[in-house]
Amino acid sequence: MCGIVGYIGKRNTQNVLIEGLKKLEYRGYDSAGIAVFTDKGLEIAKAKGRLANLETKLENAPLIGSVGIGHTRWATHGKPSDVNSHPHTDDSHKFSVVHNGIIENYLELKEELIAEGHTFVSETDTEVISHLIAREYEGDIVKAVQKAISHMRGAYALGVLTEYEPNKLVAVRQASPLIIGIGEGENFIGSDIPAILEYTRNVYILNDGEMAVLTQDAVELMTIEGNFISREMIRVDWDATTAEKGGFEHFMLKEIHEQPKAYRDTMRGRIDVSGKHVVLPELKLTPEQIKNIRNVQIVACGTAYHAGLVGRSVIEQLVKIPVETDVASEYRYRSPIVTPETLVIVVSQSGETADTLAALREAQSHGAHVLAITNVVGSSIARDADDVITTLAGPEIAVASTKAYTSQLIAFYLLGLYLAEVRGTQTPEQIAHIIAAMQALPEQVEKMLSQADAIKDFAEQISKHEDLFFIGRGLDYAVAQEGSLKLKEISYIHSEAYAAGELKHGTLALIEDGIPVIALATQESVLEKTVSNIKEVKARGAEVMAITFEEHVAGLLKSVDQAFAIPKTLPILTPALAVVPLQLLSYYASLARGNDVDKPRNLAKSVTVE
Ligand code: M6R
Repeated sequence: MCGIVGYIGKRNTQNVLIEGLKKLEYRGYDSAGIAVFTDKGLEIAKAKGRLANLETKLENAPLIGSVGIGHTRWATHGKPSDVNSHPHTDDSHKFSVVHNGIIENYLELKEELIAEGHTFVSETDTEVISHLIAREYEGDIVKAVQKAISHMRGAYALGVLTEYEPNKLVAVRQASPLIIGIGEGENFIGSDIPAILEYTRNVYILNDGEMAVLTQDAVELMTIEGNFISREMIRVDWDATTAEKGGFEHFMLKEIHEQPKAYRDTMRGRIDVSGKHVVLPELKLTPEQIKNIRNVQIVACGTAYHAGLVGRSVIEQLVKIPVETDVASEYRYRSPIVTPETLVIVVSQSGETADTLAALREAQSHGAHVLAITNVVGSSIARDADDVITTLAGPEIAVASTKAYTSQLIAFYLLGLYLAEVRGTQTPEQIAHIIAAMQALPEQVEKMLSQADAIKDFAEQISKHEDLFFIGRGLDYAVAQEGSLKLKEISYIHSEAYAAGELKHGTLALIEDGIPVIALATQESVLEKTVSNIKEVKARGAEVMAITFEEHVAGLLKSVDQAFAIPKTLPILTPALAVVPLQLLSYYASLARGNDVDKPRNLAKSVTVE
């Protein structure tokens, strides 16, 4: 996820681009850059780090001109650095491109271009686009862009400039958002409406497979095949702050709704075209090393630890290797038994959590191979780990982790399937069956999100309580722990997650009239046992809400007060769906209590102290 902005008109282009990028920093902020057509030609300025670094650079050497493109980056290919920042250009420096998305076949395109004599300076997939456009250019930038994208596979929103046609700005959208802002004698492009809201409220929303050609006085919309289209202009009536959150009241709600995209992005390019194999080209672990793994240790904190609990079951079930999951702050001080045949998996959204980083180093000191699952390319954990699987959830702003957690689950499924294939612990049919079910998850999440109101009512009821319990067995217990943390973190309601069968060993004493209990009941192999545990709390006066599959709702409603149905999936994949109603529950409970949902008290997004 990155932010794109573009301008053509009479204002100070540099200022328009910088102000636009400020509004898009939520989409990524590891580096930024602009390209402006000045009287010297196409000039580019870029800087690693926050946008302020670029601003400082521009103070000394401003780029004065009337057309330009800008970008704020969230690294996917290549670490954050000046050279990997956008805009990218070609050998002739006559073309400039900003890009949001991922070009899946960039390596093969890059090899092809290198063989043709092109020279690359960055590690990015984007640089391939500028070289492709330069190669295809025969006096018409629109045609060159169309030809270039016909070679590309993946997701992209693009802004393109060429020195040969300085009065044109070309924009393309394919599976990454892009809007066009319409002004008087000026026009804009942006990844999101806030980038341009200061200047115009009239926008076109591009659809996938569409492009726009902007001049100062006109905007032409067409398909990427070149067929002109007409589109109704939208008048934006949001205020700027709401718009930054994409119309959602809070970043957390926005991020909950971004999960289908995060699932798709994290899977993109990691399942082969046959849909039968997981491919993880980024892994350095060799098949031989994989075959030699004797045990796995998963280490993380908070929500990432809860993803690790799911990861434990996934790897044990699919790969049949013993797996332990531990919280990082405990792991490093308990003298863990780690050998060179131990695969240690550290999980961290931010990649900067001090305890997790220390655990990584502890494991490496014993000779273990450490694989990181992280959402931030170039983070300390990503840099220090021996291997990295990047989750492509995009920047997570709300302190309460949602889309990062579910993307971590997707990463564990991918890894589990990959290891299983290499070690031959699942049949090809079993692997293909799980992959097919995984591919259905994004749409299933979308379906649940459309039913969020059902959760809202229950959340308002529980917001009046001070204590609450989550129960479940197996993977349901792992999800219950995440649900409980989420609720505590932002609603400040005390809650505990219990293995449903363990309650009767003490905690049942706390169940009294009216206490809410949320029962996760998706694991069919233990469903009857879970129902017995539900009856134990019901008999003591609890108000029970069950999360289960549609087919079990009628049966469960004989034992519980309310039930929320999740779409049917394989037992192993259920956490990726069952957690969504729990995220919504916490969100709405926090809202009902009037809390600061995105910035809960006493907490921080990135915990860099031990
Ligand atoms: O950045 P990390 O994933 O390493 O962060 C770990 C925890 O601090 C984090 O998951 C925390 O528990 C979340 N705020 C929970 O929503």
